[in-house]
Amino acid sequence: IQITSLVNLTATASSILLFLSLTPCSPSHLQVAELYCSACECALCEDCMLGHQEHPKVPLSQALEQHRSSLQERLGAIQNRLPQISDSLSFIREILQQLTNQRASIEEDIQSSFEDLHKQLDVRKSVLLMELEVTYGLKQKVLQAQVDCLARGEGDLMASCTQTEEALAGEACVASLQLEQELQERLGELAGLGLPCQPEENDQLDLLMETDGLRKSIHNLGTIVTTSAVASQSEAMGAGLEQCIVGLPASVTIVTRDKSGGACKSGNAILSAEVFTPDGSIVDGEILDHKNGTYEFVYTVPKEGDFSLALRLYDQHIKGSPFKLTGAKRRGKSPGQKKKGSKRASSALGTPRRKTQNPIEDDLIFRIGTKGRNKGEFTNLQGVAASSSGRILIADSNNQCVQIFSNEGEFKSRFGVRGRSPGQMQRPTGVAVHPSGDIIIADYDNKWVSIFSSEGKFKGKLGSGRLMGPKGVSVDQNGHVIVVDNKACTVFIFQPTGKLITKFGSRGTGDKQFAGPHFAAVNKNNEIIVTDFHNHSVKVFTPEGELVLKFGSNGEGNGQFNAPTGVAVDINGNIIVADWGNSRIQVFDGSGSFLSYINTSADPLYGPQGLSLTSDGHVVVADSGNHCFKVYRYLQ
Ligand SMILES: *[C@@H]1O[C@H](CO)[C@@H](O)[C@H](O)[C@H]1NC(C)=O
Ligand SMILES: *[C@@H]1O[C@H](CO)[C@@H](O)[C@H](O)[C@H]1NC(C)=O
Ligand SMILES: *[C@@H]1O[C@H](CO)[C@@H](O)[C@H](O)[C@H]1NC(C)=O
Repeated sequence: IQITSLVNLTATASSILLFLSLTPCSPSHLQVAELYCSACECALCEDCMLGHQEHPKVPLSQALEQHRSSLQERLGAIQNRLPQISDSLSFIREILQQLTNQRASIEEDIQSSFEDLHKQLDVRKSVLLMELEVTYGLKQKVLQAQVDCLARGEGDLMASCTQTEEALAGEACVASLQLEQELQERLGELAGLGLPCQPEENDQLDLLMETDGLRKSIHNLGTIVTTSAVASQSEAMGAGLEQCIVGLPASVTIVTRDKSGGACKSGNAILSAEVFTPDGSIVDGEILDHKNGTYEFVYTVPKEGDFSLALRLYDQHIKGSPFKLTGAKRRGKSPGQKKKGSKRASSALGTPRRKTQNPIEDDLIFRIGTKGRNKGEFTNLQGVAASSSGRILIADSNNQCVQIFSNEGEFKSRFGVRGRSPGQMQRPTGVAVHPSGDIIIADYDNKWVSIFSSEGKFKGKLGSGRLMGPKGVSVDQNGHVIVVDNKACTVFIFQPTGKLITKFGSRGTGDKQFAGPHFAAVNKNNEIIVTDFHNHSVKVFTPEGELVLKFGSNGEGNGQFNAPTGVAVDINGNIIVADWGNSRIQVFDGSGSFLSYINTSADPLYGPQGLSLTSDGHVVVADSGNHCFKVYRYLQ
């Protein structure tokens, strides 16, 4: 409508052009332009004023100024986005690179696994062929001997028969009497001769080879595991997102979604959950993979206060993460308690630290470390090992490295392989030293166990594709590697070459089951001692996986636990256990009877994790919540 009315007003084509354009009416008019029509957003000159009589106008210079500044603003806004985009670009490039590396590494794994299988098939083939040869040989020998024997007998008989027939064909005379007598005797002998006429062997040689099951297994052998879940779409829900009761498990459900918000239906996404207090990470929990795209994170806070929960999917915060949590006190345990005076009730609920039961002085010799990323600093240290050569090794999980100290606490070295090489650790939680000197690392997030030389050179990995969440490692009397798979609730025993010897355990409350195993130690009888975090107990197994002994229950009394973690055995078979939720260290004899505490009262522990005995007979413990390790006198 506007256009038509305009055409009526000014019949010139240039005006139409001017109206539709944001530029001056025409290049030739440029010099005289000095007004700007705000309605039509164009510059005007005297000539083209006609069409704009009713329109608001401003001086051109002012309009130009405004144009400039709004342009500048837009530029600024876009420029502000650039760093973010460039960050994203490099991050996504990194993911792409990692994906490519992962492909190469898996390709290698597939190649070597199948080469291995080929080798094993070839070995079996040789064994079978050999067995065939031996079995055939034995049977053949028996039958051949029988054939030889019978043939000889047959020959003898035939010869005697011929001779006798010849003799009988001649005249009967005195001269032949002698010979005939001899023949008589001979035939008598031959008649009585026992010949092996019944077969002494049979001809059975069959091959029984059940290949159907194997074929089926091979048909489905190996799976490429991944999801299309992305952090930005995935979300968490559940009561455990806001509040939790001290000492009781709280639960959060995580639903993974793909880039367009569709629910993922398969499990195995790489998800991590960490609960932090304002001063560092200390709370442990477990992630259960429901294998249908949802996951459950169950955790227990050891004390009241404000916590923050970081839920990361493929290393990135999911929607709304980190979440703020409040840890509240448990209600009175028995109804009777409420009736008591409020003072008494609160003291009953307060943390009673048994300061008077252990008559010895505080046993601390020294502590090393603070929270940080540098040498001798830690972020959420977990496993601890001690070597016979006087070294203390610390699995510094969030710093993705292992740090090595002398027995005296002097920093020696650290390693973790920075970058993207195959030896890069993701979350080292367990560490052990093999008699060969090699260092064995349980890598929770990589889901394998890495082997490094004593100098920290990556040598290989084991359990890849089998392990779901290895937390602790240990080495038995035969040099076998014991791996505690926390997620799978299974203990694996490997040759250092990676060959699986045996495994036992599953999730549950049965005798050979676990509710969340963390660390293991091996005693002189080569028995495996496992701490079961969520069952609040310590379990001892034969190397074959038979339960020998179980001790501990939930509580704060002597010999009770609130989530046991690190464990070690001394030369007398006494068992030393880090009691995570009670923040203390207990000592038991080999039959599980409580002996004593290590006196940690002067400088209290805060969520102790791994624990080990040093070569000079001290106890070293990862004081995870205090981001340091501590070395104690140990009087046994
Ligand atoms: C996934 O599995 C869990 C446990 O079996 C179940 O409780 C949940 O309802 C399932 N969720 C979906 C989306 O299927
Ligand atoms: C532990 O050591 C402290 C000294 O640091 C001492 O006062 C206390 O009596 C000892 N306590 C226990 C529980 O043995
Ligand atoms: C711990 O395990 C025992 C069996 O060994 C079982 O009876 C008990 O219910 C479990 N307790 C917890 C808290 O899982």
